[in-house]
Amino acid sequence: MELKQKIETRRARIAVIGLGYVGLPLAVEFARAGFEVLGIDLDQKKVANINKGKNYIIDVNDKHLKDVVSHGKLKATTDYGVLKKCDAVHICVPTPFTATKDPDISYIINSAQGIAKHLHKGMLVILKSTTYPETTTKVVKPILEKTGLVAGKDFYLAFSPERIDPGNQKFTTATTPTVVGGYTPACGQMAKLMYNQIIEKIVMVSSPSTAEMTKLLENIFRSVNIALVNELACLCERMDRVDMWEVVDAAATKPYGFMPFYPGPGLGGHCIPIDPYYLAWKAKEYDFHTDFIELAAETNENMPYHVVNKVIAALSDKGMAASRSKVLVLGVAFKRDIDDVRSSPAIKIIELLAPKVKSLIYNDPFVPELETGWKKMRSTKLTQQLIKSVDCILITTDHTCYDFNMIVKNAKLVVDTRNATKKIKSGKVVKIGRK
Ligand SMILES: NC(=O)c1ccc[n+]([C@@H]2O[C@H](COP(=O)([O-])OP(=O)(O)OC[C@H]3O[C@@H](n4cnc5c(N)ncnc54)[C@H](O)[C@@H]3O)[C@@H](O)[C@H]2O)c1
Repeated sequence: MELKQKIETRRARIAVIGLGYVGLPLAVEFARAGFEVLGIDLDQKKVANINKGKNYIIDVNDKHLKDVVSHGKLKATTDYGVLKKCDAVHICVPTPFTATKDPDISYIINSAQGIAKHLHKGMLVILKSTTYPETTTKVVKPILEKTGLVAGKDFYLAFSPERIDPGNQKFTTATTPTVVGGYTPACGQMAKLMYNQIIEKIVMVSSPSTAEMTKLLENIFRSVNIALVNELACLCERMDRVDMWEVVDAAATKPYGFMPFYPGPGLGGHCIPIDPYYLAWKAKEYDFHTDFIELAAETNENMPYHVVNKVIAALSDKGMAASRSKVLVLGVAFKRDIDDVRSSPAIKIIELLAPKVKSLIYNDPFVPELETGWKKMRSTKLTQQLIKSVDCILITTDHTCYDFNMIVKNAKLVVDTRNATKKIKSGKVVKIGRK
């Protein structure tokens, strides 16, 4: 049976490589749509959990995972050998950077080499990991073509970036449009057909590199705009009676031509702090310097340092020396209501602040344990007594479960990096973005 027909009748066997924040939701959606899905991950713990129907990704519904596993629609394995009997494969592996902020695409290369061993005629290969333009055509394609099979002729090849926003209740896999760039028009059409089984709107672009660049533009757009408000927030802190949060909210009432971005303690997650560097690195190959990217990174990476200085100054204003103060860091996930701490600014802040204060603890209901460069930490239970016992509470993540009224009422001093205390009038609160 042709691949097209197999997809249309949902008889295509689908593999998903990398069962993390991107791969597992995708695998579950295809399985729920009736496809037989084989998830491949090198992490044996994740594989074992999935096969037991145990969920570990906040965006995946526990019951959905249990259902597809118990009906035999989703199975996980560490063995790339299952690709022999698969018709399509989605690559969802990490794309971090090195210590010097160069792209590390070794995970993509390893996955492509794993696929190459089992590549067969008519197979559809889609790269989803965020990466620099030309990865699909100049890195993945040559690895796959070493088999003697030719992209666009013997197998289908495409890039389709992932837009998942962990914790976002409004936009699901089905309702978030997906961009697809095929190596040939036929490759693009096959990838489109595949995603149309679970996603309502597919946006076709003319090449994989265009799709790769599209994803980078989306994330660089965020990074640059966040840097802009962070810079202005630092300016507002020197001025009298200008509150950057109020400024953004007021500007956001303009019905066109403005999109609100808010200041914060720095960038976090696996995307915004990393992806821009992928393009900055690639641009150099073309004797091109992406100044906006560098400038935005500089401003955003300075924010954790700025927050630490703010805490020390706020303590000093209350007559307390940092070296004799106890600090409680509230929220360490990189954003509200999720458990992801990758590149979280709270970690950087803890590492910078801990040596300067008498004691430092954290609370995060989503993150019971935290690995930092200072030490491995455990979340401390948040009680009125604890709040009263510390000299400063630093709000780094504004989880909706926090009762900020209670927190401010019982605290001696609050440094708020998220405007979590927006509705609370209190002389105890110091915010970034205002004097
Ligand atoms: N997390 C997000 O919100 C998000 C959003 C959009 C795009 N992305 C991009 O998607 C990609 C994946 O991100 P993620 O957040 O899902 O990462 P993740 O770390 O949550 O998951 C990746 C998984 O891949 C597995 N893995 C690593 N190497 C492997 C290999 N060779 N074979 C099989 N499995 C392997 C890891 O064990 C891990 O389980 C990245 O490129 C990221 O930039 C992430």
